[in-house]
Amino acid sequence: MRLVIAIDGPAGAGKSTVAKILARRLGLRYLDTGAMYRALALKAQREGLGPEDGPETAVLAEGTRIDLLEGDPPRVILDGEDVTTLIRTPEIGELASALSAFPEVRACLVRQQQAVVAEGGVTLEGRDATTVLAPHADLKVFLTASLEERVRRRKAELDAKGLTVDYAELLRQVAERDHRDYTRETSPLQVAPDAVVVESFGIDPETVADRILDHLPRL
Ligand code: DC
Repeated sequence: MRLVIAIDGPAGAGKSTVAKILARRLGLRYLDTGAMYRALALKAQREGLGPEDGPETAVLAEGTRIDLLEGDPPRVILDGEDVTTLIRTPEIGELASALSAFPEVRACLVRQQQAVVAEGGVTLEGRDATTVLAPHADLKVFLTASLEERVRRRKAELDAKGLTVDYAELLRQVAERDHRDYTRETSPLQVAPDAVVVESFGIDPETVADRILDHLPRL
């Protein structure tokens, strides 16, 4: 199927869970664009680069291969190394958010992501999926939940991994990440004019997926 479903929304809104459900139900590929920014951030960190080093990271990106492999969970392969777990720390999330504000960093990953979208048959999620990567998607969704709810979910996820984080500190980090993702000059997170806004608070992900599918035009 050539169907394209694009989902945007802030950190912790539940995009990846819902996108995976939609991909499974409809037999589509799942493209986690944030995982690519995270993998590149991990490589940048290993090279000693920091949040201000956009131009250097863009050069690094040109010589980097990131593969997303189907599976449960989907695997993220950075230059042949499985980094699926390593990229999920709050620290890498922060660095990915900072580096993704640089247009030259985005250009490289956007090119690769648009190539996947052009093939069709994909559910993709990120911050610019509905606005830049797939503005002509069959269905565009902005998935949202309150800051407090998103922080609560993130904390539960991290607790489950045995990572202890202070609620107030996590709240500060997520609020800061929101601010950066919403206000950066290049491709800020925004609600595309024709996107369906779906609230995920207190609703289980399968039901969120049902609600999204209610909006799918009959093809
Ligand atoms: O979705 P995520 O939390 O894994 O993404 C990590 C960071 O990457 C996010 O804070 C901003 C950036 N990102 C982006 O700029 N554009 C995307 N399409 C996806 C992620």
